[in-house]
Amino acid sequence: MFGVRLHQTRLALLDQLPSIQTALFLGDGDGRLLEAFCKRQPHADVTSIDQSPKMLASQRCRIDRLSHSGQIHFELANAIDYKPPEQSFDLIVSAYFLDCFTEQQLRESLPRWLAALKPDGKLYYVDFCVPDVRNETITRTGRFRFQLLLYLMHRFFAAATAHPTRTLQPMELLIESAGFQPIHVATEIDPMCTCKIYQSKKTALRP
Ligand SMILES: C[S@@+](CC[C@H](N)C(=O)[O-])C[C@H]1O[C@@H](n2cnc3c(N)ncnc32)[C@H](O)[C@@H]1O
Repeated sequence: MFGVRLHQTRLALLDQLPSIQTALFLGDGDGRLLEAFCKRQPHADVTSIDQSPKMLASQRCRIDRLSHSGQIHFELANAIDYKPPEQSFDLIVSAYFLDCFTEQQLRESLPRWLAALKPDGKLYYVDFCVPDVRNETITRTGRFRFQLLLYLMHRFFAAATAHPTRTLQPMELLIESAGFQPIHVATEIDPMCTCKIYQSKKTALRP
């Protein structure tokens, strides 16, 4: 059930995106979101980086099945060292990716990744969030179950990969501190995950 909702959250705002010419996907894993994006934006040029050759192979396999006219460039890279070209992309996509990093890593890397956006570029963000207990539909037990699930997931990733995190970082606060604000927010899919489209505050304020 939770897996279905994770996927629904991944796709939640894809149809709100304008026409995209250039997109940067960060850690898209097996490429389910990349595939859904390419079906909607068949002419977009995409750079997709991941540190896992297996995940990149899976992405390539999904895209090979599509009739996509844009260029797709797969790059094996550690995002921590990755410096994308500045002001080059209309869109950055990050789904269940930022939670792979520590707060310190995000403070150092997030501004560098976001600098790759053109001034009116968008960040398509999907990730876990801590359910708000003030929301009447979430009981304290529900919140506790979420924190347990998240802990187990992080333990699993830590054992299976070099995943350094054990807790959820204040990812949305860090995005906002980097000068971005949400312009679309998906609600009511699952209180434990969120999908938002962000844009630079400077651009959003422009008349
Ligand atoms: C939790 S998975 C999420 C995958 C996908 N975005 C999704 O929606 O399910 C995290 C992905 O980020 C990649 N990843 C984690 N740390 C990375 C790093 N430092 N550099 C590049 N890719 C990384 C992993 O290989 C994996 O494909």
